[in-house]
Amino acid sequence: MIPKPDHVFARDAEWSALSRFAESRASSTRLGVVSGRRRQGKTFLLNALAEAVGGFYFVAADDTETEGLRRFGEALAFHTGGGGQYHFANWDQAIERLYATVTDGIIVIDEFPYLAKASPVLPSLFQRALDPGGTARRSAAKLLLCGSAMPVMGELLAGDAPLRGRASLELVVNPMDYLTAARFWGCEDDHGLAVLLHSVVGGTPAYRHEPVYSDTPVSDPAGRTSIQVDVAALAPGEPGRPARLLALGEAKWGKAMGLRHLDRLRRARDLLAVRKYDTEGTRLICYSGAGFDAELRTAAASDGRTLLIDLPRL
Ligand SMILES: Nc1ncnc2c1ncn2[C@@H]1O[C@H](COP(=O)(O)OP(=O)(O)O)[C@@H](O)[C@H]1O
Ligand SMILES: [Mg+2]
Repeated sequence: MIPKPDHVFARDAEWSALSRFAESRASSTRLGVVSGRRRQGKTFLLNALAEAVGGFYFVAADDTETEGLRRFGEALAFHTGGGGQYHFANWDQAIERLYATVTDGIIVIDEFPYLAKASPVLPSLFQRALDPGGTARRSAAKLLLCGSAMPVMGELLAGDAPLRGRASLELVVNPMDYLTAARFWGCEDDHGLAVLLHSVVGGTPAYRHEPVYSDTPVSDPAGRTSIQVDVAALAPGEPGRPARLLALGEAKWGKAMGLRHLDRLRRARDLLAVRKYDTEGTRLICYSGAGFDAELRTAAASDGRTLLIDLPRL
């Protein structure tokens, strides 16, 4: 495995997948696709990889085709160290020169959706290059296409897309999980700060348990009001079965929570049961940044389906 550089924090699984891809000797390993939302560290990882193996790295911008080709020619010439400039009339020429120049290691094209937007034929051109007899076959280099425009990246390999079935690696760089993010920010011992930072800059931990709905109002006919819950988690649907409600939760940051908060969750659960949700195993969860009063703690202690989550527990 290619040693992970010290400046790359965590991301061990992502690095080992990239490293395996870069080191693969199989002639069928020619294309990898890296996607994920912005600012998750895709560029950071790919830069580190390209640096570690001496690969060619190009980042596209929201340019016209002509400008993109010009910048690509400049970057490729710079990579060869000749100091000159390649002039390409079209991407056919550019791809041919790319594989003639980079004969080993990896080629990274970052922000690929920009190029594909300006030149919609590009995925087909890469498909042709990668197919038996194509120009990519004259080189041992492996291509990594990267981007955060999710519709474009998703479609790249979907359905009857030209590159479908050709990728040996499909890597999604997700937000760091809560504890990793806390370590990343160096605040794993300050639980309050960890929660605040994660809620502002980090990924949402609830995303890990889809489908999760936030701020789901539950109308209460008796009280003629609606009950706002902060977290509602449903189990994946099974045809012909009532939807199973896994959890309802309420979160308070600055005040200690009490029995009335739990009562509201119970009421919401009962209303959902009337609406044919399966609430048999529903957990009621109180999240608080300021703890829980004695009554609530006693109630929770005698009921396995009620959970109290304070900051250290979170
Ligand atoms: N694993 C990591 N270790 C250290 N810093 C990271 C890591 N991942 C991301 N970063 C920081 O976050 C910044 C944004 O990441 P970037 O690679 O630009 O995201 P993306 O390409 O996914 O939009 C990087 O410049 C770097 O400072
Ligand atoms: Mg990037």
